[in-house]
Amino acid sequence: MTPPSPPRVAVLASGRGSNLRVLLDYFTVDARRGSAVIALVASDKADAGALAVASEHGVDARALSMDERHEASLLALLVEHAIEIVVLAGYVRLVPPAVVRAYEGRMVNVHPALLPAFGGKGMYGGRVHRAVLQSGVRLSGPTVHFVDELYDHGAIITQWPVPVLERDTEQTLAARVLHAEHRLLPRVVHALASGRLRWSSEGVRGASLGMAPDMVFALAGPDALEQAMDQALGLT
Ligand code: GRF
Repeated sequence: MTPPSPPRVAVLASGRGSNLRVLLDYFTVDARRGSAVIALVASDKADAGALAVASEHGVDARALSMDERHEASLLALLVEHAIEIVVLAGYVRLVPPAVVRAYEGRMVNVHPALLPAFGGKGMYGGRVHRAVLQSGVRLSGPTVHFVDELYDHGAIITQWPVPVLERDTEQTLAARVLHAEHRLLPRVVHALASGRLRWSSEGVRGASLGMAPDMVFALAGPDALEQAMDQALGLT
């Protein structure tokens, strides 16, 4: 009997595509992880670095039409590529309602702060980290959540706290958050693709922070961080 084929994933991205790169590495370079296929990358910006990253890896890369046909053409593109899971990786546009409905519980977004704080319309890139620094909070970190019809609003799947240090600049904080984000996002997609993580109207099932306190700040080294994330998402 032939094994079932891995779920086909689309990545929507507006920027340089560093999250896309780690997703491609996670699912293609490391053969142990062949549990999903990145089959499509689409962007609202024709010159997004993410489209170049996709082409480099031989993945179909498309610039989206952002006119009145946007909703219908995005949905058609996803259907045409038989996409089962959609990942927003640095995608700054609101996903149109018909697409949100079609992918309910199968579309996730990564945000570089601990939602529900520091999110919403216009809160992306450096603005997020600037707002975190200005607020004086001592923790930040990536949030991965299901997508609904509002910006940065759907059910939270997991968050990974990192410290905000006294001498942090926007750049040093962004780098610390991105370090955790690059490890967390592929694992969430893996958990979703393999059915370990599920959404229902009663909430998110299969993900928690279940980790030792010293893992919270990634003090135990990169491997331990990855192991703690695997454990939290039931991937061990
Ligand atoms: C990340 O900080 C992510 O959290 C946010 O946009 C940035 C994406 O960067 N949504 P990249 O394009 O993946 O490098």
